[in-house]
Amino acid sequence: MRTFTDPSIFAHHTVLVRSDLNVPMDGTTITDRGRILASAATIRSLAEAGARVIVISHLGRPKGEPDPHFSLAPVAGELAEAIGRDVAFASDTVGEDAKAKVAELGDGDVLLLENLRFNPGETSKDESERREFAGQLAAFADDFVSDGFGVVHRKQASVYELAELLPHYAGSLVQAEVEVSDRLLNDPARPFTVVLGGSKVSDKLGVIDNLIARADNLLIGGGMVFTFLAALGHDIGSSLVEEEKIDDVKGYLERAEAGGARIMLPTDIVMAASFAPDAEHWVRPIDRLVDTPAGDSGLGLDIGPDTAAAYAKVIAESETVFWNGPMGVFEFPAFAEGTKTVAAALTASAPGAPADRLTVVGGGDSAAAVRALGFSDDEFGHISTGGGASLEYLEGKTLPGIDALA
Ligand code: 3PG
Repeated sequence: MRTFTDPSIFAHHTVLVRSDLNVPMDGTTITDRGRILASAATIRSLAEAGARVIVISHLGRPKGEPDPHFSLAPVAGELAEAIGRDVAFASDTVGEDAKAKVAELGDGDVLLLENLRFNPGETSKDESERREFAGQLAAFADDFVSDGFGVVHRKQASVYELAELLPHYAGSLVQAEVEVSDRLLNDPARPFTVVLGGSKVSDKLGVIDNLIARADNLLIGGGMVFTFLAALGHDIGSSLVEEEKIDDVKGYLERAEAGGARIMLPTDIVMAASFAPDAEHWVRPIDRLVDTPAGDSGLGLDIGPDTAAAYAKVIAESETVFWNGPMGVFEFPAFAEGTKTVAAALTASAPGAPADRLTVVGGGDSAAAVRALGFSDDEFGHISTGGGASLEYLEGKTLPGIDALA
């Protein structure tokens, strides 16, 4: 991977920086600025070194044409605040406004272009269309810095083809993310514990497959628990289950038995009468999940308190921890305790934790969860900006956006 240490090599150059500013929004309000803050260092250092910086990103999944719901305009102001400099905004990607604003750039200036996915060439399945769009972007600049770790698993024009057209480098965020992920995969201090949650086991099969032979403990939480419990023959009531994945899950349990990581499953679950924030709820051991006060069988919405305490102990005793996916429906306070307990066990102040351990929070939902639950980023060793990207990296896949930087 081609990197740089001295940003002054870009002085007086126009540099395209591919960031991942795909932040969660509520209307025009940004609800989690994590990716903007994580992207700031590279942009700031290039601007301070006298480069003319053009920041490019996607936001959401618009359908290849302008859609005001997915405009990056609200992000420009937050980015300016994060880098401590003005950020100009172009209302298109490679059109008249972008061309005019690029022409106005002076050394040290920063310009953000509108959402790349407003152009069909960005995500086209047709390589020649992607290449054409990448060519239009490349015409703006002398160099390309790839810093959007969250999107390196996508073979898209601004991630892959652009790197073929300009001298290219990994930015400091991509460098840091790759370094941490490589440590998890190849050189984890032990015990190495992987905590996986989220609703669907199908999203995590690749990670389980690759880490079962590398980790010491695999702790399972979230909705995916119920496919494991069903595989073991438990009655899970109306809880979420992926029937077609039961055989895969049985295979993992067998591999664990045969000498892979220890797979820990919940011993108790917070069951609820319905999927609602104010639903009636109760705690049950896993062999009596459907023994309900209400009559119908209920559904599981969080790991139970005994499970959370047992997981917290294993996490606190580990030298390396990777966590991806909430333990329950943390958006509803009544079902957030499992996620909170696990998050607290990953923090620097967790009782009994080794001082120099590495804790990594995988991006997407887990990063949003820890912030929504009131934890701050600096309580963890590393909060990844990549959801799908960090999972695919840990699956051992070759990622196009990393491959392109060779
Ligand atoms: C993400 O949020 O995981 C990245 O920004 C990639 O977005 P995508 O899944 O829409 O490609």
